Amino acid sequence: MKIISHSSYNFRNIENLRLNADPEMNIIFGENGQGKTNIIESIWLMTGFYSFRSRKNVNLIKENSEEAVISTDFFSNGREQNAKMRIAQRKELELNGIKEASPRAMIGSFYAVVFSPSTLAAVKEGPSERRKLLDIALSFIKPNYALLMSRYLRVVEQRNIMLKKYADKGYEKDYLSAWDEELVNSGAKIIRYRLDYIEKFESLASEIYSGISSGKEKFSFRYDFSSVNISEDEIKDRLAAELEKTRDSDMKRLYTGAGPHTHDLILSLDGRDARTFASQGQQRSCALALKLAEASLIEKATGESPVTLLDDVMSELDEGRQKFILNYLDGRQVFITCCDPSTLLRKGKGKIFEIKNGEIVSEK
Ligand SMILES: Nc1ncnc2c1ncn2[C@@H]1O[C@H](COP(=O)(O)OP(=O)(O)O)[C@@H](O)[C@H]1O
Ligand SMILES: [Mg+2]
Repeated sequence: MKIISHSSYNFRNIENLRLNADPEMNIIFGENGQGKTNIIESIWLMTGFYSFRSRKNVNLIKENSEEAVISTDFFSNGREQNAKMRIAQRKELELNGIKEASPRAMIGSFYAVVFSPSTLAAVKEGPSERRKLLDIALSFIKPNYALLMSRYLRVVEQRNIMLKKYADKGYEKDYLSAWDEELVNSGAKIIRYRLDYIEKFESLASEIYSGISSGKEKFSFRYDFSSVNISEDEIKDRLAAELEKTRDSDMKRLYTGAGPHTHDLILSLDGRDARTFASQGQQRSCALALKLAEASLIEKATGESPVTLLDDVMSELDEGRQKFILNYLDGRQVFITCCDPSTLLRKGKGKIFEIKNGEIVSEK
């Protein structure tokens, strides 16, 4: 897929901006705080997912404005399409002129992969960013995954409400078992999807890492719940056992401590924990390998190559690594932000936009 043009109105510091995109390479540069990430963020929102910076709509709207509007003309699924999103208290989406119930209707039409400094958190920090890595990719790849996940999270929420409601009543009533059964059934489906994805994801990301690092180190990872070869029934049994085990502490903490919403992806570099062992540069390469693998897997599964958004990451990489990435992404549409375009390796094609105070002040 390709973006043809992207417009933002009253979006963060952007009053009115239209970017006519190059089908391959788009470089967006400018000083700090001018609105480069805001552009990347508004493109990302077209996927229908939450922003990578904030879940609150109000933060996206320009100060003292009522609403923000973003609109994109793009080519995917063999035809030109338009999506327009109005952001006020809620997000309202029109896709090809038709009002949709939720921004999630973009899934299946608009594909993007974003790599920003917050992606590094997926390597460095707690498990929630790594789960997000799986959940977003799977939502692109398996059309019913997002729905399955939101149903599952509702079950967890209901179970937590029950835990709070009966907190002081001890075991006098078996108020959890119905929720446990629900949780095991939908949780097992999620785990099965994740394991199938991780199998391909791991081997590709590991291969890409080897390319980035010229084969010096080995990057690998695994899902902390189980290995890949496990049947759905075995997953259910194991999940039920986990729930049984955490039941007492769940009752004390009033929180469901077992299930796919607690799982993690354990990343290793040469067999050691990448979170604590890897250097900053190695962690950056791990994050890149994860993102490049994600882009390829989305393309393989859907036939559409996701738009790649690289926010503030290229100029931190040495020339060899930049070269590897540009080669890997060849043919795909890329948006790269940086402060100084002279630090970027270029292949002599594409457009360069200079951003100042939320406006495009030059375009080459
Ligand atoms: N809701 C908002 N309304 C107005 N300005 C905003 C809003 N949110 C962020 N900004 C401004 O946007 C600018 C940051 O833009 P950003 O895209 O992150 O910069 P950069 O070019 O460094 O990537 C800051 O000047 C910030 O004050
Ligand atoms: Mg920025």
